[in-house]
Amino acid sequence: MTAANAQQRSATIRFVSGGREPGGHFAEFCAHPAHFLMRAYRECGELAEFDQGGILTVLMVGPEAHEAIFRAPDEQLSAALAYQYMVPIFGEGVQYGAPLAIERQQLRMHSQGLRAERMTYYAPIIAREAADWISGWGEHGQMDFYESFADLTIKTSTHCLLGAEFRYTLTDEFARIYHDLGAAVDASGTVDHTVQKAAYARRDEARAELGELIIARVRERRAAGEQHDDLLSVYMNSTYQDGTPLSESQIAGMVVWFMFAGHHTSANTAAWTLVELARHPQFCAEIVQEVDGLWADDPELGFRTLRKMPLLDGFVREILRAHPPLNTLSRRVVQDFHYKGHCIEAGKNIMFSPWVAHRLPEHFPDPERFDPHRPEPENKFAYIPFGGGSRKCVGNAFAILQVKRIICELLHHYQFELDGPADTYQEIMPSLILRPSDPCVLRYQRRAPS
Ligand code: HEM
Repeated sequence: MTAANAQQRSATIRFVSGGREPGGHFAEFCAHPAHFLMRAYRECGELAEFDQGGILTVLMVGPEAHEAIFRAPDEQLSAALAYQYMVPIFGEGVQYGAPLAIERQQLRMHSQGLRAERMTYYAPIIAREAADWISGWGEHGQMDFYESFADLTIKTSTHCLLGAEFRYTLTDEFARIYHDLGAAVDASGTVDHTVQKAAYARRDEARAELGELIIARVRERRAAGEQHDDLLSVYMNSTYQDGTPLSESQIAGMVVWFMFAGHHTSANTAAWTLVELARHPQFCAEIVQEVDGLWADDPELGFRTLRKMPLLDGFVREILRAHPPLNTLSRRVVQDFHYKGHCIEAGKNIMFSPWVAHRLPEHFPDPERFDPHRPEPENKFAYIPFGGGSRKCVGNAFAILQVKRIICELLHHYQFELDGPADTYQEIMPSLILRPSDPCVLRYQRRAPS
């Protein structure tokens, strides 16, 4: 065999068992994507092929595979084509509904609004929202913390994004419409997002209403000549490389994109953090001590103080290892992709999964054990809750800031207990986010003054 022949000939990628019925493995995938992908990995190893409702998809697992994906250009592995089902949510002209060159510039605009120095502006907003939230709790009680964190992070996000006035006058309306928009996102839409389900009709109506609400705010600000420090102002003042500003509908799209990328992911992380703190009283006691110590020096617990919390940092890092909210990431192969002698042909999908990756014992010994003191893996591509490469999450610092600041407020004033047996708090996936099972109830009790 010549060298050229050897290169052309791909080694065979194993096909996941089952999936013979129409739709292939799609029903099993939708039932619990993370569990299906783990089965695929256990059965087939680093590369596993399956039928995702007519789209042949290759799951790639492990740091070497992740690095190869992150290093491939968008022109070869396209996120936009894999995530077209998000276009009706964010709108045409932004992100995956815009040409790649435009999307890249829009991503830079998001990054500009999330730079470290801007965090000093967001931290007190988050602190105030968290303090207002707990001010009505009383001495003790219980609540569904997934739902409550989802409500709270709508408030923090709209406040940081759209300013205090919007937050205090329009958040309820925004939250209602935003809920209808989100209700249309589930795993089944990843294959055909055009089918006319009732939820999709409501989604389109909700997207139009949300756009109108945001554009009305943009016009009011322009008419009044107002300048603010929030993200909306960043989008309103941003220009593309050729000097053109974002259109009004693109500004609305940027707001919705930001909300969607950061809202449920952060609410989910906060909920898991509280559940695992309640499950592990010893780790919780260490963190309470860390929080109280810093609080004594800086009662504002500002951005700089929040950066000095190694124990809470380690805890949140372990939360994102064990419960990565985005557990299934995809790319569409546009040009044949070669990996370790295999060829994944154009037209197929590639998937990679933080959930599966974070359970590889060679990188995370005893992976089912929750251990916030776990050392970071040697290979940086082993730990990927925020993805990697040019598409790595631009909101990671904001997300961690938000979760930490909220948790500090809670731990400084209250102690928490699970309401049911520890093993009833399971991971479920009714949408594209892996969340704690419903209801996620914890009991709380005000701490005695020290
Ligand atoms: C714990 C919370 C969060 C997690 C786990 C998370 C995770 C991720 C992941 C895995 C990606 C890469 C997707 C891919 O490669 O296909 C991503 C991208 C992104 N995230 Fe986050 N994220 C979080 C919070 C946020 C927040 C708060 C924001 C906004 C402030 C945000 C904005 C974005 C944006 C704009 C992208 C880029 C999307 C793209 O390139 O198409 N994320 N995030």
